[in-house]
Amino acid sequence: MGSGEQKIDYVFKVVLIGDSAVGKSQILARFSRNEFSLDSKSTIGVEFQTRTLLIDHKSVKAQIWDTAGQERYRAVTSAYYRGAAGAMLVYDITKRPTFDHIPRWLEELRNHADKNIVIILIGNKSDLENQRDVPTEDAKEFAEKEGLFFLETSALQATNVESAFTTVLTEIY
Ligand code: GTP
Ligand code: MG
Repeated sequence: MGSGEQKIDYVFKVVLIGDSAVGKSQILARFSRNEFSLDSKSTIGVEFQTRTLLIDHKSVKAQIWDTAGQERYRAVTSAYYRGAAGAMLVYDITKRPTFDHIPRWLEELRNHADKNIVIILIGNKSDLENQRDVPTEDAKEFAEKEGLFFLETSALQATNVESAFTTVLTEIY
């Protein structure tokens, strides 16, 4: 290993899922490059980004996979979930249907992913409080019932994005 290269102790795959336009790609952009774009295009197929961070004095490389929320743009499901240690199930707090679809995403996850996968429910766009359509309590209750972690995030304001990833990665580790 040459100088300047980082020693990696662990590599963990984490997948992002949820309806189209909830902000999956922007959560990933914020986490991996500290970027955000308001005119983000729908994802086609699968993309991934990595970021290495220190957890408990170990360097953990997170390999985050992002796919399309739209059915017609989605890649082969089983390959997407293969080897994933963590999952982020994302809805948009301003769009109730994206929350109502969460049980379906959870079912897909439970049908295709490892049974020990660590799952966090994420209510994104918390900066749009005046347009809120999903009470925090509803999501909290659902998460408790299903045994999921839960956080509200804003990719735009960079609120809780870091915490969401560290919650999942720490639990996997
Ligand atoms: P698909 O790739 O189609 O599945 O969508 P996606 O879930 O990846 O959504 P994307 O990240 O492309 O974001 C959709 C839109 O929501 C874009 O216009 C983003 O700029 C916007 N957006 C994402 N996150 C936030 C946020 O935290 N706050 C606000 N206000 N807008 C956001
Ligand atoms: Mg996307």
